[in-house]
Amino acid sequence: SIPVILDVDTGIDDALALLLAVRHPALDVRAVTCVGGNVPLAQVVENTLGVLALAGGEDIPVAAGMSAPLIEPARDASYVHGENGVADLRFPAHTMSPVPVHAVELLRRTLMDADEPLTIIALAPLTNIAVLLRMHPEVTNKIERILFMGGAVGAGNATAAAEFNIWHDPEAADIVVRSGVPTTMYGLEPFYRVCCDAETIASFDGATDPVGATVGALLRHLAQVTEDEARIVHPSGAAIGDAGAVCAVIDPAGVTVRRAPVSVALHDVQTRGQTVVDLRSGLGAGGEVTKDAQGNIDVVLEVDGDRYARLFLDAVC
Ligand code: BDR
Ligand code: CA
Repeated sequence: SIPVILDVDTGIDDALALLLAVRHPALDVRAVTCVGGNVPLAQVVENTLGVLALAGGEDIPVAAGMSAPLIEPARDASYVHGENGVADLRFPAHTMSPVPVHAVELLRRTLMDADEPLTIIALAPLTNIAVLLRMHPEVTNKIERILFMGGAVGAGNATAAAEFNIWHDPEAADIVVRSGVPTTMYGLEPFYRVCCDAETIASFDGATDPVGATVGALLRHLAQVTEDEARIVHPSGAAIGDAGAVCAVIDPAGVTVRRAPVSVALHDVQTRGQTVVDLRSGLGAGGEVTKDAQGNIDVVLEVDGDRYARLFLDAVC
């Protein structure tokens, strides 16, 4: 199985992503690190522990990390995710608690102690990951790759130009995309294209097992959010968001990626936090690939949404 660390700001779709990662046999979750984003850090930690306990991931170490971005004040998205970040759901009681070290230290230790390079799946603002790369550059060759959910080739969601995770901490994203670590960007386009339809959501009605009931409640909330944001890419049903990024690690054949020069806009109020993806490189006039595309990271351009929705449902149900 693929050894991974998840960095999260749980968050409804982060909750689905954690359930998938813990329950799917292709992944071996070595640690989960928390960062302020969708909701304030303490709430992220509480939600993350609640989901992991529910999913059967009690043995996975969890640590609290950066509570605010490198430069900006924290600006959460409770308006999207409910006051507590997980659609105001209460998780069953559990006995888990965070480990008594900072998330950046848990990342460092987990990477350095592993006998093979690990994949980091980052589903939140990239603050923890940027601090890790700056404080402990020695971890670089212990990272197989970073796959982050964030950015967009086209329109943003937090602003016209910027996706939430990048907008929340543009400097951190800038550090990651320029780090030289093999990196894949899973942006808003695939994010909104992996959806569970109304019939699937209804099939969770009356579920009595705790996981099924939780997944049903989270999907119902996401269906509403997806509808509100449908102006961006016209999805239908509930977009499983961050959970799709986990699918891309489990089943890379479900996405089309292209290496491209990607930079983060930092200096202009209107575009701050935008991922500027240059898709021109290596293309001839007719759009044919004429030479190896140049670039710093791989960008997910297309996703097989049905394939990933099925992968997700098979694993969590
Ligand atoms: C991203 O921000 C959060 O709302 C989601 O959890 C996802 O990581 C989407 O912009
Ligand atoms: Ca998230």
